Amino acid sequence: PRPDDHVIVLFGATGDLAARKLLPGLFHLAAVGLLPDRYRVIGSSRRDISDAEFRERAREAIDRFGTSKPTGETWQAFRQTLSFASASPGDTTALGAAIRRAERDVGGSPRRLFHLAVPPAAFAPTVTMLGAAGLAHGSRVVIEKPFGTDLRSARELNRTVGAVFDESQVFRIDHFLGKESVENILAFRFANGLFEPVWNHRHISYVQIDVPETLSIEGRAGFYDQTGAYRDMIVTHLLQVLGFLAMEPPTALDARHLRAETAKVFDALRPIDVRHVVRGQYSGYRDEPGVAPASQTETMAAVRVEIDNWRWAGVPFFLRSGKKLGASRQVVTLGFHEPPLRMFPIGETDTPDGRNEIVIDFADPGSITVDLLAKVPGAQMRLGGAGMVFRYADSFCAANSLEGYERLLLEAMLGDQSLFTQAAAVERLWEISSPLLENPPPIQPYAPGSWGPQPSVDQLIMPFRWRLPHAG
Ligand code: BG6
Repeated sequence: PRPDDHVIVLFGATGDLAARKLLPGLFHLAAVGLLPDRYRVIGSSRRDISDAEFRERAREAIDRFGTSKPTGETWQAFRQTLSFASASPGDTTALGAAIRRAERDVGGSPRRLFHLAVPPAAFAPTVTMLGAAGLAHGSRVVIEKPFGTDLRSARELNRTVGAVFDESQVFRIDHFLGKESVENILAFRFANGLFEPVWNHRHISYVQIDVPETLSIEGRAGFYDQTGAYRDMIVTHLLQVLGFLAMEPPTALDARHLRAETAKVFDALRPIDVRHVVRGQYSGYRDEPGVAPASQTETMAAVRVEIDNWRWAGVPFFLRSGKKLGASRQVVTLGFHEPPLRMFPIGETDTPDGRNEIVIDFADPGSITVDLLAKVPGAQMRLGGAGMVFRYADSFCAANSLEGYERLLLEAMLGDQSLFTQAAAVERLWEISSPLLENPPPIQPYAPGSWGPQPSVDQLIMPFRWRLPHAG
């Protein structure tokens, strides 16, 4: 389905996220014919640049970061839809006029979508500004992450947003939920009779959600030093992925049922025990421009969480993410119990522990591997590690795939909230994080290119071990 006609307003349009993801994403949607018949995109920020300058910046960003290159008729048509209007809480005249002009150009009664790609501290003032300018009625608003910095601030932000918008107008974005392979978790679990019956504590002994990055903070010190790996990645992206991995089968695949099931998982999460947390900081982080000289911000966090319900009782979930680690990966690993009896000589397996693992690699393009033991050909009964692999390219044409932000922009225009987070769920995730945020264990240094502070990061997961980097 294609969305109704739209006027899209991009706050933070001169920023990093707009350049890396949003403008290239919108253009890709245009190129594959998924934008509305008629639409306008208004870039906005406190700065004032001309339409021509904004169009040129958009072209450069799309050229640099986009999958569809800005050339030909598609680009010319898209380019014509772009304009720019500055706005600040004290002055929304230019923005108001630009929206009216765009609505006239589109004709009829187009829908209005505001995307707040602004620093977290600007979420509340921007929402309040939209309310005061009379622009909220009938509009939809996309709000970036992290949504708050703790339970108190998330509640306050939800109150501010709720005073201006109805919850049905609010799209809290977490781009991991828009990833092809994260959505595929639902298909893998609920469309196949094979896996769901073993998807519980009777068969699974641990789950890992491991998202190391080789990137450093890439000039984002102002944001990152206030945020850290836990707030930037774990409480947002990784716990959202956990929601999909751990939920009960929903009654239907719609927003109400999906969100009800993830909310139940978050309700059952046990508050984080600070003894099960490792906070690391890569050596050299404090020398990055813009970082406080004695910064206590973690650039890597690893935590163990538990879900107190019948399906998952006693199964630890290990979550790790950080900057300047040994590889850039996005991997879920489910480790299965060993068979009740070992019939094969010990010491003749070459997979760690001889355990079956299901490995969901959810970095685009994504894959799923089932690790198993098999007999090594030859005269002796000897076991070796083997795997069954699903790769998108082997089964499907990848040309139709959408990047996380692309899918979510489209879903927001269609008004489907299934892949967006809701107020109470976000608050619950901050609530279970409170022990850690209020009483953070000391940071420990780690070498750039390593896998976090040793031995703590390996001890956290004992008696198991991280799949990465050993088993790839
Ligand atoms: C963002 C974080 O939300 O996600 C970044 O702020 C991180 O620090 C990024 O690098 C990872 O997302 P992606 O698009 O690489 O999956």
